[in-house]
Amino acid sequence: MEYIEEIRSLERQLSFRKVIEIPDHFDNIVVAGMGGSGIAGMILRDFYTEKPVILVNSYGIPDFVDSKTLFIAISYSGNTEETLEATRRAMEKGAHIRAVTTGGRLAEVVDESVIIPEGYQPRSAVGFLTIPIFMGLGLVDESEVEETRKLLRGSDLSVDPFRKFAGEIFDGEKIPVIFGTPGLGSVAYRWKTQFNENAKVLAYSTSFPELNHNDTMALENTYRKDEFYFFVLTPKSVEKEINKRIRITSELCRVVLNRVEGEGSTLFSNIFSLIHKGDYISYFLAQKRGVDPRNVKIIEKLKVELKKQD
Ligand code: PA5
Repeated sequence: MEYIEEIRSLERQLSFRKVIEIPDHFDNIVVAGMGGSGIAGMILRDFYTEKPVILVNSYGIPDFVDSKTLFIAISYSGNTEETLEATRRAMEKGAHIRAVTTGGRLAEVVDESVIIPEGYQPRSAVGFLTIPIFMGLGLVDESEVEETRKLLRGSDLSVDPFRKFAGEIFDGEKIPVIFGTPGLGSVAYRWKTQFNENAKVLAYSTSFPELNHNDTMALENTYRKDEFYFFVLTPKSVEKEINKRIRITSELCRVVLNRVEGEGSTLFSNIFSLIHKGDYISYFLAQKRGVDPRNVKIIEKLKVELKKQD
């Protein structure tokens, strides 16, 4: 499949309806996943506030994991060593283990795995990776998902300003810096990782209001300021306080913050519409740079090297 088709498929992915089974009682959720798979856990953490959600992006798991933990392992390939090891440790602690994967070793060790379609880059499968968890936990209903699908179907992201953003980053050889707003930190990070993996450029992300307590000091006068390209991601309707912060930050630090808005009436639709926009911009940048957005050979090689005995 052409990479652009993988990006376009997001709308269809949201119609996937296999879900993880939720235990009757649990006190906390621990999500293990790396890279393009781990992003689904980050989105969950932004979204779900009923119980603590802890993300694991390494081999270890928190000490508190026990039989009252819902442990969700997310790995597109099912063979990522950090996720497998974290899952093994959570099993030892007696947690409720669930997995979302295409198969691999993870599907062999976790009885309750939701198997998602193969043939995508892990990061392009963000809809498949997210829906089984969101629908399983009852975080979104059909009408919210349908609204989001409709928005994604109707969006023509091949036009400006998305190409313009990519063009300006390319022409100025700039480093994308992405600021999220509350509820959209995961999306800002997603944009960063898509710039990394698709367009093969370094990028940085952080969020309002936290950045007003640190990054702000560098924004006015950092070295090589004109080598950065700033985005701020907001929902369609932004809290007044946050809007004010964006305006004042931009004025005080004399910095252009290219604002990209989400679409729709829910946090879910805002998250997925913004993910989609970021995916397109990183794709256009990859095209400009003449690099293959699918290519993650170095990540794959690194995984192989790590498996070799010393
Ligand atoms: O997008 C990618 O290819 C990577 O970020 C992978 O998602 C990451 O290496 C983890 O692999 P997997 O998603 O198979 O667990």
